[in-house]
Amino acid sequence: MEELRRMIQGIKFTQLIAGEVFRIDVPLNREEMLAKLQESEPIFLRHIQPIDRIVPIQGNADDLQALSELVRHARMRWENGSTAIHLRRVEGTSFPYSAADTKAVLDAVIMELGGETTMQSPEQILSIFAGQSELYVGWGTPAEQLSDWPGGAIRFQREDDQISRAKFKLLEAERAFKLYLETFREALDIGAAPGGWTQLLLERGLRVTSVDPAELHPKLAAYPRLTALKKNASDVQFAPGTFDLLVCDMSWSPMQMAKLVLEKADALRDGAAAVITVKLMHKKPLQTIRDVVSKLETVFELRKAKQLFHNRDEITLYLVKR
Ligand SMILES: C[S@@+](CC[C@H](N)C(=O)[O-])C[C@H]1O[C@@H](n2cnc3c(N)ncnc32)[C@H](O)[C@@H]1O
Repeated sequence: MEELRRMIQGIKFTQLIAGEVFRIDVPLNREEMLAKLQESEPIFLRHIQPIDRIVPIQGNADDLQALSELVRHARMRWENGSTAIHLRRVEGTSFPYSAADTKAVLDAVIMELGGETTMQSPEQILSIFAGQSELYVGWGTPAEQLSDWPGGAIRFQREDDQISRAKFKLLEAERAFKLYLETFREALDIGAAPGGWTQLLLERGLRVTSVDPAELHPKLAAYPRLTALKKNASDVQFAPGTFDLLVCDMSWSPMQMAKLVLEKADALRDGAAAVITVKLMHKKPLQTIRDVVSKLETVFELRKAKQLFHNRDEITLYLVKR
């Protein structure tokens, strides 16, 4: 909220789900609002949907009827490419239908109109948020809504041999920053244990040097492309220009982490990428982020800072060495 307040004068907030979802009213039109978000995407905003229509909830089949009518009248849009229907509900809403039921009905209407529906990689999204007594309905592309997952809540399937849930963070970063991990060759993973990130990098075909005083999961011993150093990162040194990717997920004091990353920067080639989590330990997260970023910017260029769905009290930075 603070980020948006600083960005848009006269913005008004109404909370829909405490600490999670809010409605904003802004003295801007849709294009102006989208342009502002594109210009500098807020770190803590994962998803936004326009409110093109507000439908009062009746609590019976009339609600589905009203949504179907709304879709029919927006016919032109369904001819523009595949559409996904996203529905989210506030607890206690009087809207009686599940996301699956609503989707089934609206998918049928879109198909009847000659449109195409999809779950994955849609060209446009019809987002419906069921509040206590009103449905907020809006259309947009995934880029405009900042995510192609309902509410930005991207979910990955847990695999049987997965070492840690932390792996989801790097998987999400890969998508959020359009990173294509398989295009890198030689990675340094600082704060690697138990090894979820290292596992993903190895699976993507990279050679990995992992540094952590704690034990890596024994499963990782099966990878010949892994060099595991059971050490504190401040006690290891590498030849200049060894790595083209640095990842660091240390859950440590942000400024100490930044200092340590800078110490390792010589080991990176020019143009090397870095994916780093920043723990937000203090009350002033925006200030902490500013301090850490300005320290790292002595060597790196910041490409994007985002609180990912799988980040808790932290954010993830994507940087490139100058
Ligand atoms: C959140 S865990 C990392 C999880 C890991 N990314 C994964 O996917 O499994 C943080 C790790 O950072 C390590 N760590 C903290 N300070 C460190 C330092 N100075 N040098 C190396 N590792 C450190 C801790 O031992 C711990 O294993």
